[in-house]
Amino acid sequence: MLSKIEQLRLIVSKAADPKRKSQFGQFFTPAGIAQFMAELFIQRTKGNCHLLDAGAGIGSLSAAFLERWASGGLDFQRVEVYAFEIDKGLHPYLVQTLEKYRQYLNVVPTIRGDDFVHAAVDSLCGGLFTETLPRYTYAILNPPYKKIRSNSAHRSALRRVGIETVNLYSAFVALSLSLLEDHGQLVAIIPRSFCNGPYYRPFREYILKHAAIRQMHLFASRNKAFKDDDVLQENVIIMLERGAHQGNVTVTTSTDDNFTDMEMHNYLFDRIVLPGDPEHFIHVPTSPEFGVIERSGAIRCTLEDIGIKVSTGPVIDFRLKKHLCKMPDADTVPLLYPGHFKGQITDWPNPESNKPNAIRRNAETEKWFYPNGFYCVVRRFSSKEEKRRIVASVVEPDSFPNAEVLGFENHLNVFHEKKRGLPKALAYGVAAFLNTAAVDENFRRFSGHTQVNATDLRLMKYPSRENLIVLGEWAMRYDELSQILSDEQLESLVA
Ligand SMILES: C[S@@+](CC[C@H](N)C(=O)[O-])C[C@H]1O[C@@H](n2cnc3c(N)ncnc32)[C@H](O)[C@@H]1O
Repeated sequence: MLSKIEQLRLIVSKAADPKRKSQFGQFFTPAGIAQFMAELFIQRTKGNCHLLDAGAGIGSLSAAFLERWASGGLDFQRVEVYAFEIDKGLHPYLVQTLEKYRQYLNVVPTIRGDDFVHAAVDSLCGGLFTETLPRYTYAILNPPYKKIRSNSAHRSALRRVGIETVNLYSAFVALSLSLLEDHGQLVAIIPRSFCNGPYYRPFREYILKHAAIRQMHLFASRNKAFKDDDVLQENVIIMLERGAHQGNVTVTTSTDDNFTDMEMHNYLFDRIVLPGDPEHFIHVPTSPEFGVIERSGAIRCTLEDIGIKVSTGPVIDFRLKKHLCKMPDADTVPLLYPGHFKGQITDWPNPESNKPNAIRRNAETEKWFYPNGFYCVVRRFSSKEEKRRIVASVVEPDSFPNAEVLGFENHLNVFHEKKRGLPKALAYGVAAFLNTAAVDENFRRFSGHTQVNATDLRLMKYPSRENLIVLGEWAMRYDELSQILSDEQLESLVA
């Protein structure tokens, strides 16, 4: 039966109007993934089951759940399926999918064409004339991915139930979790951005407060999970149990939706959300071995301990457009973009660049500049082809001989000491440390995107200031930061 639904998925997905697809965040789950997701539920009660499929599409996820029941993997007397799908154009397919199971299973389908966010909020608030939704035993979802604007009706509705979030996918997960009965289970396939994105902190706090994370699955390849839909997000499948005590977490990984090379490990929760982390980053370790960063007792310092800070480059070019200059002159300040750094070489000014090389120095721009000096900079966006996510370079004052101050553009993260430069060896040490494979590996545990936020860099652990200076002196001797420190060198230099 699933293969028929899979054929339907491919047909509907191909035929769907791209505008509609983007308007409703329509990416339909392939059968292999749907089946894997349905397998994650653990049988609790044998009586009647209430299943929620929020943003149901053509019903692939409900079908996978019912298929598991039909094949004896789950045992119920009756399953009531609540499928919310706002695009009524998909309802005939959804009806077709669910009807097939009704012919031989005790399935009671309810298809709702209203907006899930509003229906869920109304039900949770319990207004006089609103329909109360059941408390669900299970929820299975591949929610729409779409930003929620801060002044939108969705945002205000979510606030009514204490959910503060920036995307429909996290809103759907938080609401579904709230609609579950105690110990109800939720399985969702969602982008990995919630694990460390600064705007997703309230969402992380929400799920950690109301549920236990039981399992996470990571697709190692960024574009394989939804390959026929060109989805380039890194996705995770997460299994949550409402109101349960948080124990160990099972983490599975596979390259793609064939699951042929699946690995499974169990982790103490302390390795998923690090104790004392105010941001509650969710780590997805891909191997049980501790990396150098976790292992080394000498890499435990915060930037505060070291006495430095990291900020996103303060010059936002489109806001200061009229002050930007293609090339420097006597009244300008160097304006630095990621493109000005090639490994350890500073290529400035670059007349070939399509970005400006300088910015006028005047009363309007002055407050955005830092004094010329040694800084460590990290590009905020690396390309997908780049092997390392974190690419750090050192800014040398001699590269800008006549400049009193420098402008750092917003696509760079800048390490500084009270908005001034760092001692030379410290700037080199921070860059040498950040360029190690150990840091890259550690970063990938909590971040699935190519973007490196200042918050990410702020929350990482570093060697002490003295040890960073030792690393810097090592790097300066080689005069080459692309000479990457091996794990052994890093461990022996900071020991
Ligand atoms: C990512 S698709 C997934 C579809 C299906 N669950 C699957 O796995 O194939 C999300 C679905 O949610 C629907 N949707 C978007 N916004 C919605 C809303 N506010 N309420 C209900 N459904 C919505 C879209 O039309 C789309 O079919």
